[in-house]
Order: sequence, then C-alpha cells, then structure tokens
Amino acid sequence: MNDPNGLVVQDGEHHLFFQHWPDGIVHGPMSWGHAVSEDLLDWTELPIALAATDTEHVWSGSVVHDADNTSGLGRDGAGPLVALWTSFDPASGLQRQSLSWSLDRGRTWTPYAANPVLDIGSTAFRDPKVLRHDDAWWMVLVLADDRTVELYRSADLIAWEHVSSFGPEGAVEGLWECPDLVRVPVEDGDGPSGEAAWVLLVSVVDGAPAGGSGMQYFVGELTDTGFVATQAARWLDHGADFYAGVSYSGAPGPEPVLQAWMSNWQYAVAVPAVDFRGAMTLPRRLALRRRDGELVLVQRPVVRPGRTAYELRDRPLDGELVLPVAARTCRVVLEVDPGDARRVGLHVRVGDGERTTVWVAPASGTVGLDRRTSGETDFHPGFAAEHTAPLVSGDAPLRLEVVVDVSSVEVFAGDGEVVLTDQVFPDPVSTGLVLDAEDGEAHIRHLAVLV
Ligand code: FRU
Repeated sequence: MNDPNGLVVQDGEHHLFFQHWPDGIVHGPMSWGHAVSEDLLDWTELPIALAATDTEHVWSGSVVHDADNTSGLGRDGAGPLVALWTSFDPASGLQRQSLSWSLDRGRTWTPYAANPVLDIGSTAFRDPKVLRHDDAWWMVLVLADDRTVELYRSADLIAWEHVSSFGPEGAVEGLWECPDLVRVPVEDGDGPSGEAAWVLLVSVVDGAPAGGSGMQYFVGELTDTGFVATQAARWLDHGADFYAGVSYSGAPGPEPVLQAWMSNWQYAVAVPAVDFRGAMTLPRRLALRRRDGELVLVQRPVVRPGRTAYELRDRPLDGELVLPVAARTCRVVLEVDPGDARRVGLHVRVGDGERTTVWVAPASGTVGLDRRTSGETDFHPGFAAEHTAPLVSGDAPLRLEVVVDVSSVEVFAGDGEVVLTDQVFPDPVSTGLVLDAEDGEAHIRHLAVLV
C-alpha cells in the first residue's frame, strides 16, 4: 500500500481506503483497498473498493458523505458517499478527476456516467481532497510539477469552478502531492481557546529534513478568493516516514484526525518485506498552539489506553538502566528533569548489537531519533541515519511519548509539538528497553511502559 485515501466517517464507521496493488509488493496499477474501524485502532479489511483496469489506474483522492444529497446521486432521502479520485491513464500519462458514489456504506461503488468531472489535459494534476465549508464543497489538488495547490469550488460535487492557486512556496525541491486543507482549533495553556485557523498540508516527494519525502504545512486564512499563508512553512514530522497524510472527513469533534503512509519514496519499494509492504502511521488529532507569536501544530496519537507493564517514579538516573520488561510493541510515557545530563535517552527494540534510540539534548534544544543500529538498514544508503528536530523552548520537565510497533517508532515530544516517525527493521527478538542519562545526572519523575 501507499497513500491513505478517502478517509471518512459515516454513522460511526471510519473508512480507510488506500493505494493498493493486490498483486505485488511494489507500486503498480493502483486500486483503492478498503478497511473499516469503529475506533481507529481495530481494522477489518474489506474487498477492493475501486479497482484498476488496464486503461485506468485509481490514484489518490478523497470521500465525503453527501448527507444533503447535493449531488442528486442519493436515493430515498439518503445521501451517498461520494469519492473524487485521480484517474490515471497509463498510456498517455493523463491525470483527470473522476467521481464514484456508494449507497451501501462504501461496500460497492458506481462510477459517474460522465467521468471525468475535471480534466485540464495535464499529466501532473492529482490527489483531490474535498471539504465542506460555507455551504459549498471545496477541493484542493496539486499541479505536482508546478508545486502549486489548486483550489476549486462546487455546489454539487460534479461541476467544479477554479477559485485560486497557492504556491510555489516553502519547500519546492520535490514534486507536491496529496494536499489537504483543515480547520484546526487553537489551544492555550488551559485547553481550547475558541479560536481556530486554516492549515494547508502539502506532501513533498523530496527535500524533507530527514531526506526524501515529507510533509510541510502553512497556517493561514481562507476567503472566497482563496487560501493565503500568514506564516512561513513548517515541517509536520521530522522523521523520515510520514507521507501523504490527510484528514478524516466528518470526524466527530473539533480536532481534525490525520493519518499518513509510513514510508518515503526514497526507499519505499526497497524496505524488507515478504508478502506485503507498507503501513499507515497512527491516526493523530491536530490542534494549534501559540509559540513565540506563531501557531504551531500539535499532534496527539490515537492509542489504546494499554496496561501498565512497568512503572517508575522519582528516581535519579546516571548512566544506563536496563528496564526489567521486554516489549516488541509498546507505548512509553516519560517525564524527566534532565538535570546536568548532556543527553537523556530511551533505547527501544534493544537486542544483540541492535538498538533504536530516542534522545533529548536539553543544552542544544534538540530531540533525536537514531536508527543507525536499528536492525536491517543496508537496503538503501539513506536509511541508516539519525533524525533530529528542534525542541520546544522552555519545556521542562521533558515529556516524551514513544509508540513502538513491529516496524516503527513514533516519537511525540513536548506534548506533541515535535514529532518524529521512523520505520525500523529489528530482529523480532530485540525487545529490550533501556533508559540512559549521559554525562550527568537526570531525575526521572515518571516512566510508564504500556502494552
Ligand atoms: C503519492 C502519490 C500520489 C498519487 C499516488 C499514486 O504517494 O504519488 O500523488 O496519486 O501516490 O499511487
């Protein structure tokens, strides 16, 4: 699989469609795979939703619930699920936007008879994401080569009128893909402030801070004439494996829920795999917080509450402490005063000659995720690396939440203001956990290992 597609909630059911070639473990003639979940954690895979043909591949796009039947494609007063997706013609390379609809909760789909609904004769026009705003449908999609996001508007999801163009801006080294436009609540120290801002998300194939693909975001304003950025671009995730992230349409509550493909086009088709390749990241709830006059994204993972397998409170730490617990998958929550330690670290998936390290260096204000000795790394020259990010200033004690899965580590520092996501390929028996205070003494306020 690659990109998540058509993330939508209807009657309490979350749909996750995804770029999928059922006959191979590299990129091919893509269809939309399909999975559903009540809670975003347990998923049931369903049959292919939109299938590729020899002359038409089904590339990325989105789904909305047309509850008021603005499209007229509903029946008996019930509004359909409507998918807008990029129809890719492998012979000509043309990329056009097509529509399909479903009246049975996404189980079966009918293509619109007059597809495509939007065709500008381009070979780099793709990834439509639809949202409802101001009693109209809005759609963002990219002109990938131009590094622009194009904004369209429609009353019925079928006839689309061009509103404006955004970009090139921010990171422009790589092609732009998979945009999204979300309304994000702003929180202050005490919780929601009642304020909100628009955030434009853009995936870029190359030139991200950890190398290769990544996601940038622009905070700004949306008016009738288009989106305007009011701040400079920022990176959403400082690890190497967070790409093509989009939000769930119709998610309950004010916070958008974002989910991404956990890979990087640098090495996506080369990572160790046997019978499948590719996974999604954890879903994350988004909020904004003000830092030095700027609004920055905060990401909080949707996780199981978990059972506490090991816990520590109020303990000095000097050097390494091997925790008496083994976990191939777990969530670690750590609150620590760094004291005079140069670095405070957590080694996960520790085994014979293997470890992946999450560290914080308070003096330089940096968070790091080091996968140089994480396990299999030699399938691509750029994989064995250490990824770093600036730490949020004045954040003491340090707070880290680390989610370790079979082939991944997701790090949330400073209550979700700094995030790093990396794939790792350790030996399945590398399950150790080690705490570490280097060159000084730190004080552990609280550590919990949840499984
Ligand atoms: C992003 C992407 C999209 C495209 C899809 C094809 O990873 O390249 O731009 O629609 O994948 O699978």
